[in-house]
Amino acid sequence: MSTVASNPFLEGNLAPVHSEVTVTDLHVTGHLPEELVGRYLRNGPNPVKPVDPARYHWFSGTGMVHGVRLDGGRAEWYRNRWVRTREVTDHLGEPQVPSDWPDDHPNFPANTNVVAHAGKTWAIVEAGSPPVELSYDLDTVRVSNLGGTLPMAFSAHPKRDPITGELHVMTYWWGWGNQVQYLVVGTDGKVRRTVDIALPGSPMIHDLSITQKWVLILDLPCVFNLEAATRGAGLPYFWDHSYEARIGLLPREGNADEIVWCPIDPCYIFHPLNSYDDGDTVVLDAARHPKMFDRERRGPAEGPPTLERWILDTRTGSVSQQRIDGRSLEFPRVDERRVGLRHRYGYLAGVAAGFRQDALVKVDFDTGEVTARNDNARYGYGEPVFIPRHDAAEEDDGWVMALRHDTEHDTSDLAVFDARDFAGDPVAAVHLPVRVPNGFHGNWIPD
Ligand SMILES: [Fe+2]
Repeated sequence: MSTVASNPFLEGNLAPVHSEVTVTDLHVTGHLPEELVGRYLRNGPNPVKPVDPARYHWFSGTGMVHGVRLDGGRAEWYRNRWVRTREVTDHLGEPQVPSDWPDDHPNFPANTNVVAHAGKTWAIVEAGSPPVELSYDLDTVRVSNLGGTLPMAFSAHPKRDPITGELHVMTYWWGWGNQVQYLVVGTDGKVRRTVDIALPGSPMIHDLSITQKWVLILDLPCVFNLEAATRGAGLPYFWDHSYEARIGLLPREGNADEIVWCPIDPCYIFHPLNSYDDGDTVVLDAARHPKMFDRERRGPAEGPPTLERWILDTRTGSVSQQRIDGRSLEFPRVDERRVGLRHRYGYLAGVAAGFRQDALVKVDFDTGEVTARNDNARYGYGEPVFIPRHDAAEEDDGWVMALRHDTEHDTSDLAVFDARDFAGDPVAAVHLPVRVPNGFHGNWIPD
């Protein structure tokens, strides 16, 4: 049920659900691969209490994590749980969850991503808030400072180097002024390295990208606005026409004074697909938005995001840019074993007006072939995740998993496709007992 009619980020399958459920032994059509043993988890905004549609910003909604556990061809359970930040425990009349931080530490809804690292599951968000640790069954355990090693802020988009197993994280917090902080989290779950990076302003840096040699800093013209923050804006980051768009290349173990800055044409990037070294250049593929939070300040809606490639010269800072595909695409993902390395394939979700997710798309960057499923008149797809058939499988030899909303019946399932038969029928669909609102990011977390 849509509660309001005047905010696109509360309508259709962006409308929140109102209860937490646990259902076991889910109905499956098709054949779930026996190799899939673990959890598919996905986070997204789902306001725990009524919100003012005129003021509601999609990025500010209470976090809710949805999970499906698969085991040997069965779908064992589905659960959805609000992440117990203070807003949630206060509203539900529950005790506060333990926190490693003082009471006045930023405590925004941990609504953007859910990842596993060093044996822990974390619900995560950017802009100053720390990771929130979840149990295997998605109960909130504690607000974490990574064993006392996290200086302050975390990010919704850590990138795991598949060779070292370490997480690379770009963090920001308006209270730092014109500065962001890069972190490396070791395989032991502790921060082992921090680099403070001074910038001309205080930009929203949603994600980063890495290569084997470099860390990419997306210093783009969506910046903090103190006046709006004072007025109580849901998210006080707006487009600034006067702010120079640029990408910084920080040597992986280097210092901030070694950054190579590469000016680019103004745009906004939430999500790189991947980047890699190619001789003296860095190749970056990402979903490019023309602007962000300029006319529409309640969520992304400044023209269609398109898949583009930037080639950055690490010696001169010069940049060339080309469009890979003109469809409206977001939520780019790559085989996680290729992060920071040359990739051939990418998987993305199409987005229609109001960031309504629709198509499911695969890109072969070697041939330029783009495969888009043709069933999006009926189905809307969330962010895809690629899972290799086995550890040594070739890139694209595996499954693509995504939450899918059936717009005819207003129901949801978890669809599993053979990546090499991307346009074909799913090999399996796990039918969920409730609708899952379109959200942000998820991951397959094998046991
Ligand atoms: Fe994101």
